[in-house]
Amino acid sequence: MPESSQIDYDGLIPNNVGLAQDLRVRKALETWHPGYIDWWKSMGPEGFQNAPVYLRTAVGVGSEGWAKFGFVKMPEYRWGILLAPAVEGRTIPFGAHKGEPAWQEVPGEYRAMLRRLLVIQGDTEPASVEQQRHLAATAPSLYDMRNLFQVNVEEGRHLWAMVYLLQKYFGRDGREEADDLLRRRSGDQDTPRMLGAFNEQTPDWLSFFMFTFFTDRDGKMQLSALAQSGFDPLSRTCRFMLTEEAHHMFVGETGVTRVIQRTAEAMKEAGIDDPYDIERIRSLGAIDLPTIQKKANLHFSLTLDLFGNEISTNAANSFNAGLKGRYREDKLEDDHQLTSSVYPVLRPRDGKIIREDVPALSALNMRLRDDYVEDAANGVVRWNRVLERAGISFRVNLPHVAFNRHIGEFSTIQTDTEGNILSSDDWHARRKSMLPSTEDNLFISSLMRTSRQPGTYAGWIAPPRHGIDNMPGDFEYVHIEN
Ligand SMILES: [Fe+2]
Ligand SMILES: [Fe+2]
Repeated sequence: MPESSQIDYDGLIPNNVGLAQDLRVRKALETWHPGYIDWWKSMGPEGFQNAPVYLRTAVGVGSEGWAKFGFVKMPEYRWGILLAPAVEGRTIPFGAHKGEPAWQEVPGEYRAMLRRLLVIQGDTEPASVEQQRHLAATAPSLYDMRNLFQVNVEEGRHLWAMVYLLQKYFGRDGREEADDLLRRRSGDQDTPRMLGAFNEQTPDWLSFFMFTFFTDRDGKMQLSALAQSGFDPLSRTCRFMLTEEAHHMFVGETGVTRVIQRTAEAMKEAGIDDPYDIERIRSLGAIDLPTIQKKANLHFSLTLDLFGNEISTNAANSFNAGLKGRYREDKLEDDHQLTSSVYPVLRPRDGKIIREDVPALSALNMRLRDDYVEDAANGVVRWNRVLERAGISFRVNLPHVAFNRHIGEFSTIQTDTEGNILSSDDWHARRKSMLPSTEDNLFISSLMRTSRQPGTYAGWIAPPRHGIDNMPGDFEYVHIEN
């Protein structure tokens, strides 16, 4: 077994899994490679494929110095790491097989379940690249354009990581699944991506920041749960993906913070105290806070749907099987089997939303969603600090979890953002005040003009506090030939 800390950059497929010695898998990946490049060229970032971009490439697996920065053309991005190092003597941390040695091969009885988990996770990676493919043209700065591309190449790498697992451990059906990952398309009528939020559009940069804040954070939760897996190769893959996911959420969190900051500054400069003086604020070329709130409402609710049904036998089965754990399972103190415990679930009953204890095993999706909401709320606190400091009374809030839901317990009702149940008429009457309207979206898209002079920023967003890799403010992150 080759050391996973050694990265082979010589072959067609850069890797740290000893592909040079693994003829079968190497051939399978080399066969898949041209399709990936075709997909990247037709569905990856539009334009800029020949522009050198200041990108981070993973070069090691340790927490220190795992990445290096340099100018790379995106189609030549070389990713290298497919697995984090093995943990000596690791055992299955939860479920019916708790305490047994972690699986190094696919456990036969759970093969189908495991493959499905891989495919669902894998499908989200290329999907988000497809959703974001038109954004570079309207990047508010070269700094932001570079961050978009960084996220995109890393999602491409995540796809490689999942495809490696499919090709290595699932033989022929793994190959078919890997091909299908390149065949589905975000938003396509006939062959859509598997999950709803990954078929929505990301039409503007505020949507992109909201997406990386809310939806990449779902990725963090799912990867954290899969990083606990008793199937050791999956655990090792997800552990390494998480190191990159942190940057994606950084892009979202700081992106929205900078939008809010610019709005607060514009309001101050113009002497506007009332955050609902929307027309005047918009006339300054800034995005009013109520519209930012509506965007947050939309992306939060779409992302909650990704957690699936609150009560789910699939979730119970994959936990029992030892394939998908809870968020930070290794930090939790209980029996890690949950055979006799309960967990509270919110659900509508007789015109009200009630809390009801159900068997903890069947409520694992609900639990992961609760952990997600808490994590997202911490980020929102940081957005609001900008408003506090500026002396503006408005606060961005996460809407109630029942708001605008299409999957699970709340899909049969409509509520306002506080969770009060609405009649269908009330919902339609109030929808525009809670979710972005056509006019809101038109206004935002009217602001989406690019700024490509190094160190300059579009008027609706503040510059970042620090450069990437501590580069100076006027650093040229993307070399665009004219
Ligand atoms: Fe990802
Ligand atoms: Fe991501």
